[in-house]
Amino acid sequence: MTQYKYHICCMGAGYVGGPTMAVIASNCPDIRVCVVDLSKRMIDAWNTDELPIYEPGLLEVVKSARGRNLFFSTDIDAEIQKADMVFISVNTPTKTTGIGAGRAANIKNCELCARKIAEVATGPKVVVEKSTVPVRTADAVRRVLMANDKGIDFQVLSNPEFLAEGTAIADLQKPGRVLIGGMQTDKGKAAIQQLVDVYAHWVPTERILTTSLWSSELSKLVANAFLAQRVSSINSISALCEATDADVHEVSRALSFDDRIGPKFLTASVGFGGSCFQKDVLNLVYICESLGLQEVADYWYQVIALNDYQKQRFTRNMLQRMFNTVTGKKIALLGFAFKKDTGDTRETPAVFVAKALLDEGAKLRVFDPQVSREQMLEEFDYTCGVNETTLPGLTTSDMILTMEDAYTACEGAHAIAVLTEWDAFKTLDYKRIYASMAKPAFVFDGRNVVDIAALRQIGFEVYSIGKPI
Ligand code: NAD
Ligand code: UGA
Repeated sequence: MTQYKYHICCMGAGYVGGPTMAVIASNCPDIRVCVVDLSKRMIDAWNTDELPIYEPGLLEVVKSARGRNLFFSTDIDAEIQKADMVFISVNTPTKTTGIGAGRAANIKNCELCARKIAEVATGPKVVVEKSTVPVRTADAVRRVLMANDKGIDFQVLSNPEFLAEGTAIADLQKPGRVLIGGMQTDKGKAAIQQLVDVYAHWVPTERILTTSLWSSELSKLVANAFLAQRVSSINSISALCEATDADVHEVSRALSFDDRIGPKFLTASVGFGGSCFQKDVLNLVYICESLGLQEVADYWYQVIALNDYQKQRFTRNMLQRMFNTVTGKKIALLGFAFKKDTGDTRETPAVFVAKALLDEGAKLRVFDPQVSREQMLEEFDYTCGVNETTLPGLTTSDMILTMEDAYTACEGAHAIAVLTEWDAFKTLDYKRIYASMAKPAFVFDGRNVVDIAALRQIGFEVYSIGKPI
């Protein structure tokens, strides 16, 4: 039987738990890693080659370790008992009801994990917060754990995750930094060292930063807020570019040559999406409000307000350019995921654009290489409350059809809206598409992927974010 030096259990087999643990297992053959989840469907999928999430390079990493030192299980109790270290990598969505609804993060799942660990543990454990949480959550986790009456010692660490979807494996294999926060006591420092030793298998030690618990928890929220702020900043400038015939791409490029600004996260878009930017900025806003820092809260709230404005601005422009009506018109939506190289649709700007167009009576033809019809409809329901009950005929009439490819999506359409920057959309045969569309044929590029000059040459009327008309 294989002898492992160390045992890790990870609670939560989602976009973070699965890839993160797969990379730990593949780099640390001496450590046994088991990912557990309440969802049997997720665990069953992780045990096949049809993984529950799409992420380039993930399957190869999983296959390199699965069955050797990487396992996926629903036997949560047994795996917690075996583990020296338990990661909590569960979802922490924005609260929808009660105090702080629409702003505060719901840490119910984290607390339930802590309660489960306290209930079933038979020996000491290091408990690692991997989920993104409000600052000082570790205190709540620690108190729940220490309230056990078994005299077991638990050390709590904060180890937020910085991977981005679509590049998760590259981000995990070569992280910009690994952040580990812990109590500055002897036992706390020993726990920090245990986690440093795990990452040191493949991450250079100068990239492993250790801090207090609270700095680590807060740094994660602040990192996402700064990134989201950059997108909102350039998106605000895209509106100004459109009003002045400046080109947002040229402005970004001019900025990027300044080392102090740098080139990344300066791509104007229809708005940022994803499960975390909005949630984490709103959480930061809520924390500031709760602490009486209203001016700070107002400052960060503008990042969200601008993002909402950008999504609305895009749809208003479509409507206005198409003679102020899209009623009964077919509109092809190219892309539905919140960014390329992922099938994730959480908070995708596409759903807001689609909802606004449906409200105007448009007929939508959607194509995304990684998003199924079922998932699209679930997203509509979850994000906008749009389903067969609220919008009869949604799925039975041809209000919204999901298409097999971009060409069929565009056939007979009055307009195309590019909503995800899939590389494949750059090289479509736009002459063929133009020939199949109603005229005038409009393209509204929310991701600046199409070659404007080439499409105008074909005959399209093209409107791209932040570009001169
Ligand atoms: P997810 O929804 O994809 O996965 C969470 C999983 O946790 C689900 O499969 C759910 O069934 C499981 N779960 C919930 N409660 C559980 C419990 N009590 N016991 C066992 N399993 C349980 O979420 P995610 O995208 O992986 O995000 C997880 C956390 O990581 C969040 O706090 C998020 O903010 C943060 N984060 C996410 C990303 C990202 O790119 N998605 C990146 C960095 C950080
Ligand atoms: C983001 C962060 O980049 C990660 O570091 C973080 O770990 C993660 O959130 C999280 O906490 O969940 P992710 O949301 O997966 O990662 O993807 P990003 O690449 O950050 O893109 C977020 C959104 O912003 C996407 O909709 C993207 O299209 C948009 N974006 C990004 C722009 O519109 N312009 C840009 O220049 C960059």
